[in-house]
Amino acid sequence: MTQDKINRQWTVARHPETSLDHSHFAYREQPIDPVGDGQILLRSRYLNVAPVMRMYMMKNGGGFSTESPLEIGDVIHGRGVAEVIESKHPDFKEGDFVHGQLGWQSYKVSSVTQGEKIIAMQRRGVPAYYGLSALGMTGYSAYCGFVTRGAPKAGDAVLVSGAAGGVGSLVVQIAKALGCGPVVGIAGSAEKCRMISELGADEMINYREEDVAERIGQLLPDGIDVYFDNVGGAILEAALDNLARDARVVLCGSISEYQQEKRTGPRNYTSLRASEADMRGFFVYNHAADFERAEVDMAEWIKAEKLRALVDISDGFDTMPDALIGLYTGENLGKRLVRVVPGEDVIF
Ligand SMILES: NC(=O)c1ccc[n+]([C@@H]2O[C@H](COP(=O)([O-])OP(=O)(O)OC[C@H]3O[C@@H](n4cnc5c(N)ncnc54)[C@H](OP(=O)(O)O)[C@@H]3O)[C@@H](O)[C@H]2O)c1
Repeated sequence: MTQDKINRQWTVARHPETSLDHSHFAYREQPIDPVGDGQILLRSRYLNVAPVMRMYMMKNGGGFSTESPLEIGDVIHGRGVAEVIESKHPDFKEGDFVHGQLGWQSYKVSSVTQGEKIIAMQRRGVPAYYGLSALGMTGYSAYCGFVTRGAPKAGDAVLVSGAAGGVGSLVVQIAKALGCGPVVGIAGSAEKCRMISELGADEMINYREEDVAERIGQLLPDGIDVYFDNVGGAILEAALDNLARDARVVLCGSISEYQQEKRTGPRNYTSLRASEADMRGFFVYNHAADFERAEVDMAEWIKAEKLRALVDISDGFDTMPDALIGLYTGENLGKRLVRVVPGEDVIF
């Protein structure tokens, strides 16, 4: 079964130090290993493209401890949605769909180890790429980060940066589904602001054209109750200048700083004192106990048409490096992913 197939892979050609470019990626083709007892053969259908991947590619994994550091020639780490096409494992059968750590490759023989974080997808009648968005790690990040760390209440004023991206676009919709408001989204273009508005945001800020701190002050005169931070840097500082009493600041990501050689923290962190605000870090893999609850709630909201996946699909396995490079210039409109086999979306 496996001999006639070729495994296409993207590997690390050079460790990035600052910005990513094509010289960091190498393409190769490999035979597929035979499937042993207790293993499954997965065919990648959608592969994830996420800001953290540049860190995975850095020397010593950029100091990031959840995935093993990559050497030159190693397949790049990355999650994906895959179809089980052969199974010698009691818990999986042909035709099942999973999301998990597949790596940047078109096939994977998996022993379903803990490190691979393989999660069987429930059949929900939505495009299978939801397993990389609302019904997968991106959705769990949005849900666990916002609900657990942000502790939102109905009527809370919520600010979300990176609001047209994968995590941010879901946080905007979760906030609305929970009765928060006003919900303000920050993004980097008029088109992105229009998309966030369609998702239900009450107000938008285009950070490339507007003074963010001033606009927050106008739109949320009583201050921010929950700020969900995907970007760090100057936008985080603008938010800290506008906190309501007892505000919660959730540190999910800081993409504005990832490609910088020297990172600076927020200069105005002392604003937390007067507002008695909490600023807390968040890391999705520490919240595995809440993934099931996240998935159930997200599925309910999808069914009730309160939430949908905003995705930016790049067609074809060969587009993976460009798809990742473009994330750092804000090219993506929604969660960026790669459809490994161009064509119709798989409904599962
Ligand atoms: N803590 C966790 O467990 C966890 C889990 C998942 C993701 N994350 C983090 O969450 C954030 C969002 O991840 P995602 O996968 O959903 O990515 P994403 O938001 O879909 O894509 C990245 C977006 O960041 C924005 N951006 C890029 N450079 C920027 C800059 N200099 N200033 C402001 N915005 C900038 C761009 O949108 P604009 O055009 O609007 O600028 C771009 O589209 C990332 O920082 C990621 O590392 C953390």
